[in-house]
Amino acid sequence: MAQTSPFVPGLAGIPCAKSAIGMVDGSAGKLQYRGYPIEDLAKACSFEEVVYLLLLGELPTEAQLAPFRDEMVREREISFRAIDVFERLPERAHPMTALTIGVSTLGTYYEGDHVEDLALSRAIAVRLTAKVPTLVAAWHRIRQGKRPVPPRADLGHAENFLYMLDGEVPDPMAAHVAEVALILHAEHSMNASTFAARVTGSTLADPYAVVASAVGALSGRLHGGANERVLDMLRAIPDPSPEGVRRWAEDRLARHDKIMGFGHRVYKVKDPRADILQNLATDLFAKLGRTPIYDLAVELEGQMEKLVGHKGIYPNVDFYSGIVYEKLGIPVDLFTPVFAVARVSGWLAHLLEQLEDNRIFRPSQIWVGEKDRTFVPMAER
Ligand code: ACO
Repeated sequence: MAQTSPFVPGLAGIPCAKSAIGMVDGSAGKLQYRGYPIEDLAKACSFEEVVYLLLLGELPTEAQLAPFRDEMVREREISFRAIDVFERLPERAHPMTALTIGVSTLGTYYEGDHVEDLALSRAIAVRLTAKVPTLVAAWHRIRQGKRPVPPRADLGHAENFLYMLDGEVPDPMAAHVAEVALILHAEHSMNASTFAARVTGSTLADPYAVVASAVGALSGRLHGGANERVLDMLRAIPDPSPEGVRRWAEDRLARHDKIMGFGHRVYKVKDPRADILQNLATDLFAKLGRTPIYDLAVELEGQMEKLVGHKGIYPNVDFYSGIVYEKLGIPVDLFTPVFAVARVSGWLAHLLEQLEDNRIFRPSQIWVGEKDRTFVPMAER
């Protein structure tokens, strides 16, 4: 059959769904959730409020938010059997791998074949969003030979997540910064992990399988995994002077090595989330002390603008997130799981949207292999 559609590597610019959840305007540097600018949501909302907005489509009233928050709090607990599974993993398992296992383990409690029951899928979306931080924190404790810290009902979602990592109620500024970081990472239209979630969801697989697929897709270093690499990369810059940073960047670009935390398929200006994170970093440093690596990051941003700004390569959300997380005391290999703690809400909003008007994803391919070959028996090859 003749091929009619051109091949577009990475499906760049090809719409694969109609969506009303997250809107990214890459040339204007705009991000909106359900039509609300990210800057306003980050300034005024709790993470739970944003989850409500993403999953249910509207900002909640106080009367709507209270029971929703209670539902999320009730769902934070995970079963001791999921903990047992974690106890059997090697300590060196990457937290993203452990998270995939944790989410799949929760899926073993999923009963029956009810995916198209939207009320049930919505309830599971809340449940999974509530439990992912508990899984991440539990694995972090278990791999250190410690008992998981049970969630606390009196703490907000982000605050409780930090609390479950080390058993200490975080400083209010740290809790605020973590909350804003979760809001910024909650949704970002048709990125690789969201696409993975929608593809898996379109087969009518259950929501646990959907989230497990998406966690796998997020883990790669071209996507969520980039945030772990940014700090290592900054630390490897041998000379922090402006000339040294420029030389380092020029060398790397000449070798066609990617500079982590820069570039984006959609944004051709600075990612608005990077701006918000940078302001948060400034507040955090004012309270908890400055980090020299931040100055180096700002220098690299300036040099990169001169070198590749004309190509539309600017910092993305991952460039400053690691610096902020490190200041919050979060270990480097938990940076991508923190991303998952936030993005699980976006994935599940997309699942609900997909199920409302589902058609299984089944793209085509362009055949480049041989055809109609004559089979050769083993003895004659
Ligand atoms: N460093 C150096 N050059 C870059 C970078 C970068 N970070 N990003 C893009 N470029 C260059 C490419 O070399 C290429 O140049 P060329 O046309 O001269 O060959 C051009 O810009 C286009 O780059 P692609 O990789 O083709 O762009 P694509 O849209 O496929 O990829 C991506 C986007 C994966 C984000 C890319 O910019 C990248 O690899 N960045 C580094 C990893 C990273 O930070 N990922 C996090 C993204 S945000 C997120 O997922 C949350």
